[in-house]
Parts: sequence; C-alpha cells; structure tokens
Amino acid sequence: MPEFMPAAPSRWSVYRRTLRYYAPYSAPIFLALAFVLLNIGTDLLKPWPLKYIIDSILDPKASPSTYHNLHYLLQLCLGLAGLCLLSGLFNLVSSYLLVKIGLKALARIRCDLFAHLQQLSLKFHDARNSGDSMFRVSYDAQAIQTILNRGLVPIFTAILTLLTTAVIMFRMNWHLTLLAITIGPLLFYAIYHYADRIRRESTLISESESELTSRTQEGLAAIRIVHAFGREDYELDRFQQQAQRSLSANLKLTLTQLNSALVIGTLMGFGTTAMIYFAAQHVISGDIKLGELTVFVSYLAMLYQPLQTLTYTSFALEGAAAGAQRVFEILDTKEDVPDKPGAVAVKHVGGIIEFASVAFGYDEARLILKDVSLRIDPGQRVAFVGATGAGKTTLLSLIPRFYDPTKGVVQLDAMDLKNLKKKSLREQIGIVLQDTMLLAGTIRDNIGYGKLGASDAEIERAAVAARVHDFAKETPKGYATEVGERGVRLSVGQRQRIGIARAFLKNAPILLLDEPTSALDPQTEATIMETLRELMKGRTTVMVTHRIGTIHDCDRIFVLENGTLVEQGTGPELLQRNGAYARLYHSQSRG
Ligand SMILES: Nc1ncnc2c1ncn2[C@@H]1O[C@H](COP(=O)(O)OP(=O)(O)OP(=O)(O)O)[C@@H](O)[C@H]1O
Ligand SMILES: [Mg+2]
Repeated sequence: MPEFMPAAPSRWSVYRRTLRYYAPYSAPIFLALAFVLLNIGTDLLKPWPLKYIIDSILDPKASPSTYHNLHYLLQLCLGLAGLCLLSGLFNLVSSYLLVKIGLKALARIRCDLFAHLQQLSLKFHDARNSGDSMFRVSYDAQAIQTILNRGLVPIFTAILTLLTTAVIMFRMNWHLTLLAITIGPLLFYAIYHYADRIRRESTLISESESELTSRTQEGLAAIRIVHAFGREDYELDRFQQQAQRSLSANLKLTLTQLNSALVIGTLMGFGTTAMIYFAAQHVISGDIKLGELTVFVSYLAMLYQPLQTLTYTSFALEGAAAGAQRVFEILDTKEDVPDKPGAVAVKHVGGIIEFASVAFGYDEARLILKDVSLRIDPGQRVAFVGATGAGKTTLLSLIPRFYDPTKGVVQLDAMDLKNLKKKSLREQIGIVLQDTMLLAGTIRDNIGYGKLGASDAEIERAAVAARVHDFAKETPKGYATEVGERGVRLSVGQRQRIGIARAFLKNAPILLLDEPTSALDPQTEATIMETLRELMKGRTTVMVTHRIGTIHDCDRIFVLENGTLVEQGTGPELLQRNGAYARLYHSQSRG
C-alpha cells in the first residue's frame, strides 16, 4: 500500500459513513420501510385462518354454528389467499424501492470514487496498480449497496419480525416460548464467533481478487512484450499462482460459512424438536388446542427464520464492510497537490516562468532536481538538454504542477504555483508528452481532446499543421480512423504527430514540448519544426530535446546534468564556453 494511503477506517465508521451516504434518500427509505411493516403485519396474520379452520370448523367440540360450516370455511380460505396476495405485493413494492435506492447510492459512490481517483496526483498513481483502483471502483463499491439491501434492511425486518412474533408467542403460551428461545444466547455466541472470521477472510478475498484483476490488466497491456520475449508460459504461471491464492481464500471462506450454517442449523433443529416434544404433551392433556399448536409451530418458524437471517446478514454485512473499507480508504486519501483554499484562477498569462532554488524527488530518499534556479521570460523559446535521466521531463512536469517541489518555489508571473487553481493553470499550458498518450477512439477524437467542442475545421487546421493530415487522408476512413487502445494501430511517429496537433488545437499561451519530434524522420521533423516555430511565436515555449540541431537557435538553452543546472545561454554563447553543451553539439554534428 502506498505510504500516503491513510490507515483503514474502523468498521463502525464504515457503517456510519455508509449510512450518511443514504441520508439524501431518507424519505423514500421511510416509505419503503412502511411497506416492510405492512409486509410483516400480513405475514403475522397468515397462520390464523388455519387455526380457525382446525379449531372451529373441523373440531366436533366447536360451537355448532361454525362446525362444518362451509360458508365460513370459504371465507377463511379467501382471507388466507388475500393475505398471501397482499404480503406478496407489499414485498414487491418495498424490495423494488430499496434496491432502487441501493443502486442509486452505488452509482453515486462510483462517480465519487472515479472523480477522487482523477483528482489524486500522479505520485499516487505512480505508486500503485491501476488494476487495484479499477477493482475498487467496479467491485468493492458494490459493498455500499450490499450494506443496505443485504444488510441493514434484512436486519431491520428480522428484528421487527422476531420481536413481534416473540410477543405474540409469549401471550399465547409463555412456557413454550421460553423453551423455544433458550437457544438464543447460544445462537448469538455462534454468530459473533463466525462474523469476525468471515470479515477477515472476506478482506483476504478482496485483496487476492484485486491482485488477479491487476495481473490480467498488466499481462494484456504488455502483450507485445510478452509475445516478443515468448513469456506466455511465465505470465500464465504467475497468473495461475494468483488464481490459486484467490481459490484458497474463497474456499476458506466457504468452509467457514458452511461450518457456521451447520452449527446454527443444528442449534435451531434442537430448539424446534424440544418445543414440539413438550407442545404435543400439552395438546394431549388438553391445555392447548390443536389449531393453536399449528399457529405456534408456524410462529416458531417465523421466530427462527429471522434469527437465521440475522446470522447470514451479519456475515454479508461483515464481508461488505471489508469492501466499503477499501472504498473509503481511497476517498480518504488526501490530494498531495491540493488547491489551496484561497487559490486564484489564472486568467491572462504573461508567461514568466521562474524556478527559485527548486529541489525535487519522487521520494524522500533521492533528489532528482537539486537547487535549480532559472527564469524564462514571456514569449521566449527555451530548451533543456542533457543526458538521459538528467531530470528534464521531471523539471517540465513541475510547470503544470503535476508535482510540487520538495524545496523552493516555482512561479508563473511572480505567483507561486501553489497559490493558483490547478485547473486554470493547466488551461494555460499546451503539452506534448514524451510518450504520446492516445485514448481509444478516432483520430478526430484524439486531436479534439485538446479543445472539447472544437469544430471540424479547427481540428483539420491543427491536423494539417502537425502533418497528421498527410497520413489521415491515406486511410479509407480519414479522421474517423480508430486508433486502437493507447493508439496501438498507429506508428509511433503518427501518434507523436497527433500529440502535437492536440497541442496546436489547444492554442495555449505556454507550450511544453518533451521531445516532440524524437520519433520522426529528419524530413518530417524539419517540416514540423517549421510549423512549431510558427506556433511558438508570441508564446513562452519550453522544449526538451536530444536533437541539438532543432534548438541551437533558441533564445536560451539550459543544460542539465544529474539534476543540476550546469550551463545556460544562447547556442553560440554556449559553444564558445566549450563546456557540456559544446560537447553535445560537436558529438551530434559529427554524427
Ligand atoms: N514517476 C517517477 N517515479 C520515480 N522516479 C522517477 C519517475 N519518473 C522519473 N523518475 C526518475 O527520475 C530521474 C529523471 O527522470 P526524467 O524522466 O526526468 O529524465 P529525463 O532527463 O527526461 O531523461 P530522458 O532524456 O531519458 O527522457 C530518473 O532517474 C528516473 O528514474
Ligand atoms: Mg524525459
């Protein structure tokens, strides 16, 4: 678990927070519970018609007006049928309402989770498996619905049925009722004992299932490497191990559940047997009538059934609590690049970017940037060069505030980035990433991502400038060509050009280009650089590149070595110094 993930919330707070999730639905919940009450009421009436049939119509000792009275029999049977119909209808309405509420809450928490995951910084996502986050949104989140529909409502219904049934039974015959409920404490002890085990084992299942999802996702995402290195068997082996762990965890839980069912079922069976043994003797001695016995036995079932429901729902609830816990864990994770309360929105950008003694490390143990101070003036075209791993991409990613510096300040127009609204800051910046990220969809969708709602003409203009048009027009579907997941159906250079077109379309006052032409042939690079120069006019542009030829004429060049700024100046100035830049320049011009 990443170090900044908060401690798992306690079980009680999980329930409390789930309940809070349902607060907006309290009116429909009360309506549904009213139907639950009606349902319980009709269920409690159901044994009585049979009692009257046995004691008043079938019993020769009954009053002559009712004995063998067929009209009365028909009335009682119609009454019973009516009760069954009503109870079914009440059940239908209450269940539908409650499931609907549960599903609504589920949809809401999923959206909240997704929104929060999107807000969390790159640091968070770098440190964890996207498969695990996916699992929490798609699977663990269901716990919110389970807690209501398979937990709280059945518990409410069971407790109410239990209490009303117990009261009626006490009034009918308290000796027998006492006998029937002697197993109660034993039952509760068993429930308590198993519930804790089931919760722990459910957490293990969630974890191993989530690992399995991650494995699947990773294995399929890296399918090209798997094929290239012939690692299918190796991957399958790792998958099988994980599947085996998941199997063992599930089997363990199943065994616990079956054990608990055995213990609890046996206890109930003993209770029923004892009750029937004594009740039958009461009928023989004439203390109670036969009809009353049937009512009593029906009620006994209604007494034990909620006890059983309580057991199983407490298990379901424990399992769900484990899932909900994993959901709240994400929701509790604090953004580590937050918008300050008084943060201001950036409206008009001058474009002065300043680093003052900036140090940065992805983790505390190792600083990637050390004491970097620099200033980029509005409209300047600057470049960062340096060996691979020197920290160029890292430095660039501090400007849109993907990360906050460990020490020092990054400023835009003399304002600390931390005092600006992130979204507004990022609106001012067009970025071409080192690895072009494409989304599944068409070429048009991918360029249009730079400016939602852009017209076809605007998209085409950007596509022409970034030389996307050249290859798009060759394909039968043109801009409607599907790029495949992460753009796999395009060449790397084509992807890169789409990335550039996206930045063109965004038309932001600051432009960050991280090796925008690394995958292009020299001729395409030259034409794109020409258009890029056009685009750079009047904008502050920061470009990272290994191709010295493309940036030698920049306004300013910064040379990074191992996270430290070692040289800065114009191309000719740096050549004169005959230092790190000159070495890079000469090595490439020789090449
Ligand atoms: N997300 C990350 N988490 C942890 N460490 C990282 C992360 N990204 C980069 N690094 C480390 O930071 C250092 C600098 O990486 P960076 O990507 O900034 O280099 P670069 O100068 O852009 O290199 P290149 O020219 O190869 O693109 C590297 O040592 C790398 O291991
Ligand atoms: Mg880089």
